Amino acid sequence: MSSLFDLLYGLLEPWLLLSLAAGYLPKTIVGIVKRGAWATFGNWSAFSSEWFAVVWTVGGPMVRAGAESKVVPLLQGRVRAGAVVPVDVATQCGVGGTVIEIGPGSGMWVSIFSDKYVTGGPEVKDGKPVFKKGERSRVDKVYGIEPNPGQHPALRARAKDAGLEGRYEIVPVGIEDIAGRHIAKESVDAIVTVLCLCSIPDQEKNVAELYQYLKPGGRWFVYEHVKSHPSQGEAISLYQRALNLIWPTFMGGCDLCRRTEKSLRAAGAWADVDLAMPVDEPWWATTPHLYGILTKPE
Ligand SMILES: C[S@@+](CC[C@H](N)C(=O)[O-])C[C@H]1O[C@@H](n2cnc3c(N)ncnc32)[C@H](O)[C@@H]1O
Repeated sequence: MSSLFDLLYGLLEPWLLLSLAAGYLPKTIVGIVKRGAWATFGNWSAFSSEWFAVVWTVGGPMVRAGAESKVVPLLQGRVRAGAVVPVDVATQCGVGGTVIEIGPGSGMWVSIFSDKYVTGGPEVKDGKPVFKKGERSRVDKVYGIEPNPGQHPALRARAKDAGLEGRYEIVPVGIEDIAGRHIAKESVDAIVTVLCLCSIPDQEKNVAELYQYLKPGGRWFVYEHVKSHPSQGEAISLYQRALNLIWPTFMGGCDLCRRTEKSLRAAGAWADVDLAMPVDEPWWATTPHLYGILTKPE
């Protein structure tokens, strides 16, 4: 009985999120009118960004509450084949050093970069830091690539609360415009993409561009919702595609049907690709996830 309830709730959940977004439309319009920012009404991209920023003040914490038990161990390197594993059997290193976080939004995950989550440090070997498996090291620098200015005040405040002032830098552009900013290619130890690759333009091209910023041996931490997996069946795939006719309009351009694994695998050579649907996700998930870590060759 409870599984029938879970199934129905799972199928209805996207409609609850769409209703939530619709409910915040009047507040968004009133905010724009109060500021006298009339031009926003003639610019869909600006309006949609502003609407989504308002929606995410409520949606973001809800999503974080549901996903924290996955994202914290992910950033510790304690994920294998879609499951959280103990430190002593972890095969990957956690996040540390210099990091690019794509689409941080209002900073829902920024606290995880704070020093309070550090579980170990890199050893220095031949003058190079060697990160330890299953351990999350100190984050020295984060570039938060966030094009939506409506998210920046909350993001800045959360970075400060996490003790990252001076270490967390908001780069106010989209992933497609980071070339020419002051981030050097092959300079970052980790890329973190949590629930953002659904929203970026030209995913395959921009993911491949981003790959070039990883150092040899660098890791890419992924928790993304994606196109339904073949194992979920045709009915879920159809339902997801039907929802996707309206979803991006209400959700800041988010696309439910992204083939993110394909883009990541095609981005460049990998020494290790460990990506899977989380083991506890049901077959009827309408926002099934891609979860895991990719490691660039040394
Ligand atoms: C669904 S929200 C997730 C935010 C955050 N990662 C979280 O989990 O709370 C997607 C984020 O991607 C950002 N985004 C949209 N287009 C982008 C682009 N071209 N480059 C980088 N980020 C983008 C949006 O502004 C938004 O903050």
